[in-house]
Amino acid sequence: MTLTAAHIREAADFIRSRAALVPEIALILGSGLGVLADHVEDAAVIPYRDIPHFPLSTVEGHAGELVVGRLAGRNVVIMRGRFHMYEGYGPELTAFPVRVMKALGARTLVVTNAAGGINTSYRPGDLMLITDHLNLTGRNPLVGPNDDELGPRFPDMSEAYSRRLRAIARETAREQGLELREGVYAGLLGPSYETPAEIRMLRALGADAVGMSTVAEVIAARHCGLDVLGISCISNMAAGILDQPLSHEEVMETTERVKSRFLALVTGVIPRL
Ligand code: HPA
Repeated sequence: MTLTAAHIREAADFIRSRAALVPEIALILGSGLGVLADHVEDAAVIPYRDIPHFPLSTVEGHAGELVVGRLAGRNVVIMRGRFHMYEGYGPELTAFPVRVMKALGARTLVVTNAAGGINTSYRPGDLMLITDHLNLTGRNPLVGPNDDELGPRFPDMSEAYSRRLRAIARETAREQGLELREGVYAGLLGPSYETPAEIRMLRALGADAVGMSTVAEVIAARHCGLDVLGISCISNMAAGILDQPLSHEEVMETTERVKSRFLALVTGVIPRL
């Protein structure tokens, strides 16, 4: 099914009927990073299942609700739980909530995820500012007829992750005495983790971290003119780097451990966006 401007309007109208506040900043919280939504004041919590045309998020660690309210003095809309293409959703469904948040008033998207570290100088628990991405999902949310009202047919991706917003994040981390890595995020379809050979290939391609989300959302965001800040939590070293198997449990354990630093960084960045 193609989701059109009318579907976006319908979802946005419904959200407005539950939450009067106009959000300026949209956030998408990755696996285990949903804790940020607990800090929202005057929160209106809207389960995805209630929102017209929103699918359900099926992954453990992803709550599946939209939270609208105030965070660090700014009006925000937060996706607690996202739609991954490996769940079987088409790329247009990963783009849809981004477009809805833009329709609600957001001008900036802060996108977060858990990712495997490919750069061997990284350690599980590191936070990484995403400088750029490799879309290796084999999909693109903009395939199909283009709605020129939403954005251009051939959107520029040369500054997918805003230079200005990266500088703000870097400065905030410095003030907090927090070490912030910077690198390229490779987005793959998943859901199987990569093989060691694939990780060597990704390293040769210039990737520093790998995950199964984010790239489609960021493409949709740039298409509709949102500025993007991306932060990865390095939840594990990618396949073949350490002599141990990968597991979703390790991802959840690490994000749990990083929670307070992640919270401090994001809430420190928000007032400056
Ligand atoms: N690979 C892909 N996706 C991930 C990983 C990984 O190692 N860790 C967290 N998400």
